[in-house]
Amino acid sequence: MTPIRTLVCAALLGLLALFALQAGAQVLPDKSRDRTLGVVTCASALCHGSIASWNGSPVNQNEYVVWSRLDKHARAYQLLLNEKSRRIAANLALPQPAHQSRVCLDCHAHVPANPAPAHKVSDGIGCEGCHGPAERWIAAHTEPDASHRGNLAQGLYPSDQPLARARLCLSCHFGTADKYVTHRIMAAGHPRMSFEMETFTNLQPAHFKVDADYVARKGNVDGVRIWAIGQAVAVGTQIDILQDPRRGRDGAFPELTLFDCHACHHPMADTRWKPVGSFGRSISPGLVRLNDSGMLMLRLILRQIDAPLGERFVQAVVQLNHAVAGNGDLAERARDVKALADEAARRIASVGVTRDNLRAMALALVDDGIAGGYADYAGAEQAAMALGSVVNTLHKLGQLPSAASLNQGLAQLRAGLVQDEAYRPADFQNRLRAFRPLVATPLAGR
Ligand code: HEC
Ligand code: HEC
Ligand code: HEC
Ligand code: HEC
Repeated sequence: MTPIRTLVCAALLGLLALFALQAGAQVLPDKSRDRTLGVVTCASALCHGSIASWNGSPVNQNEYVVWSRLDKHARAYQLLLNEKSRRIAANLALPQPAHQSRVCLDCHAHVPANPAPAHKVSDGIGCEGCHGPAERWIAAHTEPDASHRGNLAQGLYPSDQPLARARLCLSCHFGTADKYVTHRIMAAGHPRMSFEMETFTNLQPAHFKVDADYVARKGNVDGVRIWAIGQAVAVGTQIDILQDPRRGRDGAFPELTLFDCHACHHPMADTRWKPVGSFGRSISPGLVRLNDSGMLMLRLILRQIDAPLGERFVQAVVQLNHAVAGNGDLAERARDVKALADEAARRIASVGVTRDNLRAMALALVDDGIAGGYADYAGAEQAAMALGSVVNTLHKLGQLPSAASLNQGLAQLRAGLVQDEAYRPADFQNRLRAFRPLVATPLAGR
């Protein structure tokens, strides 16, 4: 190749890489062909294994200690050796025990394409399971002139970028075409899964601090944007699975986990069908409905930041529900919803969420529920997690009264969600009515 052509190619590749970064299309850590070095490589006391966080360093340096002591990902593999996992494996008649079965290891450990000898699957989901195999960035990321952009170019996974983070977390907390907790696995004893990115980022617990220095290196991403983008990517992921021929079906039936669990799993004496569903006129009684908890949240978000896009999304979901009920082309309708969810994720990433949006969203989360929008447990559960994120951000901005009364209010909401099968929509509506005054009154002078 002539030098000029090489240069042009390099420039084009650079552009492509940049585009991939922006589109959140990076290779997930377990698909990367870079070598995974192992948690032990990051754990030294001079690196990320310091007992207390350092003052002079831009990052805490105690990430390993936080992870190994407090983060459930450090124990995700060990869990496969317990009684519950043994029972799941036995119920599924897996040829090998859970801790040796790919169907479990895929999410309960980091199983890289290219492991170094020091990498141990038994470490569970280690640093490189989220930050990407370290082969190319390990040396460069501690150099005095290291930059975040430079590290990304060397294969560090961009977990700071909400679109990329959502794909990463949801690849295990919802699943992909390659790894998925099917209804069979759930019926064998696996817990039901739910995810909300902002809540779970805080629950993990976070081993990073978004301070001035962090913002200078990586930019400021507020919690509400993380919640909103997480919802858009979750809807897209659900539709991907619905459309995937390897995942969308199980024998004669569709994959049941894509539908609302409690549409089937509730006592017959407790009839719940209503003439109006969450997306307008309900489909006929007796039909299985998609789990629309993510769609409910995305509708609410879009109404605040881009109402016309929100309206198109609502229409697409209504059409999808009709197609699920047998009226319309399911594949086409699913494609429409997927395209709009992708557009929504990009839109939220680019425009963000304003203060005014925030209060309107908090109120909409409450009012949608009071109007009967959370007929299903999954919707109420997402709404409660969302209220936690939005209210927390509003409080940090000084826009809401005392933390104590807010926390008490949120605890009252969650108390209605402790047992999914005991969920009573009318009771949750009452809890929302009691919660409303906490978010309805703006503080004077702010
Ligand atoms: C698609 C990814 C995925 C797959 C595949 C998967 N799991 Fe899980 N598993 C999870 C996630 C995520 C959680 C945590 C759910 C939560 O707490 O929100 C979990 C939770 C569990 C729990 C409950 C943990 C607790 O604290 O009570 C057990 C037990 C378990 N998994 C066993 C298994 C076994 C056995 C297999 C293989 C048959 C398996 N899992 C396959 C993602 C997966
Ligand atoms: C379950 C996923 C996950 C695991 C496992 C994980 N991290 Fe992180 N880590 C994150 C996320 C999300 C962030 C915040 C976004 C960002 O800055 O990339 C982060 C941020 C960081 C930061 C950046 C702090 C800053 O100020 O820029 C460091 C350093 C870090 N992690 C080190 C580690 C180390 C060391 C381990 C293993 C002991 C580890 N992480 C394990 C998800 C993970
Ligand atoms: C490689 C798969 C994988 C990835 C990637 C992953 N997780 Fe997990 N996560 C799990 C599994 C498996 C568990 C269950 C562990 C257990 O219960 O001990 C879990 C548990 C958790 C829990 C504890 C939940 C509970 O019920 O206490 C939180 C919080 C969490 N993950 C947050 C995140 C976030 C945030 C991200 C993205 C930055 C992420 N996870 C990425 C597999 C993963
Ligand atoms: C279309 C209806 C339908 C949907 C939707 C559905 N299930 Fe099921 N589920 C069933 C049927 C049918 C069985 C088998 C019942 C039996 O064996 O008695 C079952 C069995 C189970 C079992 C085992 C119960 C037992 O007695 O052995 C669990 C656990 C379970 N489902 C969880 C879930 C979860 C979690 C979801 C949502 C993510 C879900 N199901 C969605 C119909 C459904």
